[in-house]
Amino acid sequence: MPQPNPLDAARTVEELRARVAAWRKEGLRIGFVPTMGALHEGHLSLVRLAAERADKVVASVFVNPTQFAPGEDFESYPRNEARDAGLLQQTGCDLLYAPERDEMYAPGFATTVTLSGPAEGLETDRRPHFFNGVATVVSKLLNQVRPDIAVFGEKDYQQLLVIRRLVVDLDLDVDIIGGATLREEDGLAKSSRNAYLDADQREVAGALNRILHTVCDELRAGEAPPRAEQRARDALLRAGFDGVDYVAARDAGTLNKPEDDAPADTLRVLGAARIGGVRLIDNMAV
Ligand code: PAF
Repeated sequence: MPQPNPLDAARTVEELRARVAAWRKEGLRIGFVPTMGALHEGHLSLVRLAAERADKVVASVFVNPTQFAPGEDFESYPRNEARDAGLLQQTGCDLLYAPERDEMYAPGFATTVTLSGPAEGLETDRRPHFFNGVATVVSKLLNQVRPDIAVFGEKDYQQLLVIRRLVVDLDLDVDIIGGATLREEDGLAKSSRNAYLDADQREVAGALNRILHTVCDELRAGEAPPRAEQRARDALLRAGFDGVDYVAARDAGTLNKPEDDAPADTLRVLGAARIGGVRLIDNMAV
C-alpha cells in the first residue's frame, strides 16, 4: 500500500512564516492548534475543528519550559515527535511547527506576559508560574503563526479564558475557539497525563468527573456553592484522591466568585485533585 507523504515540518519562525505567507497569497484561511505533543484523541478533535473552520491547519508541538516549575514534569513529559506527526497528518493537519527551545527563547530572552483577571486563583494557587509561561508562549506562537483562528481545549477552561483575555487585551487579530472536552467511558477527561496513572489510580480518577456532575446537580437544585464545593472535596478524598486543590463554582465568563443570587446556568464548576503524584483537572457548565 502506498505510504502517505510525511507531514511537512517547520523548525524556525522563518520557515513557518514562509509556508503561511504562501497560503495567504492564495487567499487561504489559517487555523492553528498549539500543543505540547503527547497527542491523544482530545488534541486530534481540536485539529478536526480547526480543519472545519479553516483551509489550512498548523499545529505546534513545543514542550514549553516556562510553564513548568522546578520539580514538575518538564524533563519527563512524554515526547515522541514521529508519533505525533503521524497522528496530525492522518487528522488533516497541513504543517507541524516544532521549534527548538532556543528558537522560541533565544539567549537573552527577557519578556514575560502576565495577566490578572481570569489568571487569578484556581490553577495559579497551586502553580503560580503557570499562566505566565502559557501567556508568554501563546503570545509568541500567535505572533509567529498569525492564524485567523486558534483552537484551545475547554478541558483547560481557565487557560481558555486567559487566552481569550490576552487576545482582547493585546489586540491580537485572531478568533479563539474552544473545543469540547473528550472523555473516556467513565467520564475521565482525556489528558496526556492520564498515561501516568496505574490501574488502581485510573479506577479512582473517574470519580472526579462524577463528583463535579453532582455539584452541578446540587447547584441546579438551589444549593449554595460553598456547601456543594465542600461536599465534593470530601467525596473526592473518600473516593481515593490523595488531595484536592480546589472544587469551585465560578462565573463561566470571568471565573469570578458568583453572587449569592447568580443563576445556576451562568456558572462553571472546576476541580483539580491529586492522586499518586498525578494532578487531574476537569470542569463543566452547570
Ligand atoms: O494546553 C497546552 O497544551 C499548553 O498550555 C499550550 C497552550 C500548548 C501552551 O504551551
